[in-house]
Amino acid sequence: MDLEALKKDAALRAVTFIRSGMRVGLGTGSTAKYAIEELGRKVTSGELTGITAVATSEASDALARAVGITVEDLDPRPFDVAIDGADEIDPQLNLIKGLGGALLREKLVEIQAREFIVIADHTKIVTALGEKAPLPIEVAQFGVVSTTERLRALGATGELRMNGDRPFVTDNGNFIFHARFPAGHDLTAAERSLKGTLGVVDTGLFIGMATRAFVAAPEGVRELH
Ligand code: 5RP
Repeated sequence: MDLEALKKDAALRAVTFIRSGMRVGLGTGSTAKYAIEELGRKVTSGELTGITAVATSEASDALARAVGITVEDLDPRPFDVAIDGADEIDPQLNLIKGLGGALLREKLVEIQAREFIVIADHTKIVTALGEKAPLPIEVAQFGVVSTTERLRALGATGELRMNGDRPFVTDNGNFIFHARFPAGHDLTAAERSLKGTLGVVDTGLFIGMATRAFVAAPEGVRELH
């Protein structure tokens, strides 16, 4: 099974939602990359005009500019569409995101989207969040050991995401703690206490934000909403 082909199928379906003149949120990761490339192709060919975009990471910003998309800074105007991948998708379209390390900018952009379309291959579908993926939690560097102790007191186990022998640093200068919880732990219910933990900048829980998902499987692309 070619997962890359499935990611691309899902991404291309989502890009059909973009019309000329739209303001678009661009996600991060290996699936979002296909959407950015396809949008760039449509912009460069003249099929779409007047597109402006905000990217959710330095990497997506660089890719978008390289493929000819006009990239702006984030301001309070809404996005017509935001398109992004996910690490897990539950039946209510609640998500775990952030294994690509971009959860904070992703949430800042996608919360302002009228239509937030998730794109993924079928391996990302779960019955309950936390089934497969750890929950990425962005934490301030200062006091990180104290912060992770607070998270452990809430039932989390896990470790800092590493980049070689050093902690991975996000585009915002923070660390990421990859948290795991006991089976059956209701992560959607835990969101408020995790988010309210001193030292936590934000979590990879995207609850009630996605409006639609395109999930690609060998038998075709399924639309969920
Ligand atoms: C980055 C993300 C990504 O959207 C998520 O990790 C999915 O990535 P991929 O499409 O590479 O599987 O949240 O922070």
